[in-house]
Amino acid sequence: MIQASAPGKLILCGEHAVVYGCPAIALPLNQLRASVQIVPAVADQGITIHAPDLERMWNSDAHADNPLIALTQATLDYLQADVSDMHITITAAIPVASGMGSGAAVATALVRALAGLVQHELTPAEIAQLVYTSEQRYHGTPSGIDNTVIAYEQPIWFVRQTPAQPDEPPPAPIIEAVTIGAPLTLVIADTGKRCPTHLPVGHVRRNWLRSPDQYQTLFDAVATLVQQMRLALQQGNLAELGQRLTDNQRLLEQIGVSSEELEQLVQSALDAGAWGAKLSGGGWGGIMIALTAPTTQAQVAMALRQAGAVRVLTTEIADFDH
Ligand code: MEV
Repeated sequence: MIQASAPGKLILCGEHAVVYGCPAIALPLNQLRASVQIVPAVADQGITIHAPDLERMWNSDAHADNPLIALTQATLDYLQADVSDMHITITAAIPVASGMGSGAAVATALVRALAGLVQHELTPAEIAQLVYTSEQRYHGTPSGIDNTVIAYEQPIWFVRQTPAQPDEPPPAPIIEAVTIGAPLTLVIADTGKRCPTHLPVGHVRRNWLRSPDQYQTLFDAVATLVQQMRLALQQGNLAELGQRLTDNQRLLEQIGVSSEELEQLVQSALDAGAWGAKLSGGGWGGIMIALTAPTTQAQVAMALRQAGAVRVLTTEIADFDH
């Protein structure tokens, strides 16, 4: 049996604007992971994928168009692997459509397990590219930040590049390690509302097409904040970082991807003493994050539960070995 896993993710800042070429910072969420197990199957059974958490099962004969079956085939082709019968089991501790990267984590764990099956080492860049191609097929215009932070498993600064001509393939994104000057305590609260990322992403695209100047101004303002946040992270200036996170939330409200529930949670976290708070990921539902001192983490978490969060967890992000 072959087993592999991949973490969830948090977008610290810059979501949505990142789709339009602005920088964003993302963090791996190691305590919530997706796992994939592969066992060989008898000949002619094809590829079966079983997701017991979702009570779903797909087979390559009946569901060739299923995104995970298609990713399995594409990865086997890439690996030039001559294996056609296997049973794949997927489990994930990451809530679906919550802003924590469950889809990209499952896809990354799947690619890693397939590479393990044929004893082929793939680089994080290769894994990220295979997952991105699959996400692009089914989700429109993802920036690539989710699959990248999950494949690299370290805090990243990410800038999507656009081709010089629309029909050219996009150049590789800029991916840089981010220095974390002082450990971050982040409280994550889930609104319990599920919202697939492509819905708010599509809404922003329509508004951007309708009012390009207005949206470009908002994206430029996000880009400036993200640069300030990288510096604050590096210097370990958490009060400054918190203020900029809240500034980013205000811009996300103007971009049109926040919601009443998210704003209530943001306000509760700030009232309870968080340094800053914002929605994280696609928005309209999903999660928000609050940056707190270790000493105020418990009171912020309690305030978020009282304000209606269906799940609250805390993560510590310290510097990583690069
Ligand atoms: C989703 O985690 C982040 C978004 O910026 C979409 C994307 O970058 O593809 C909302």
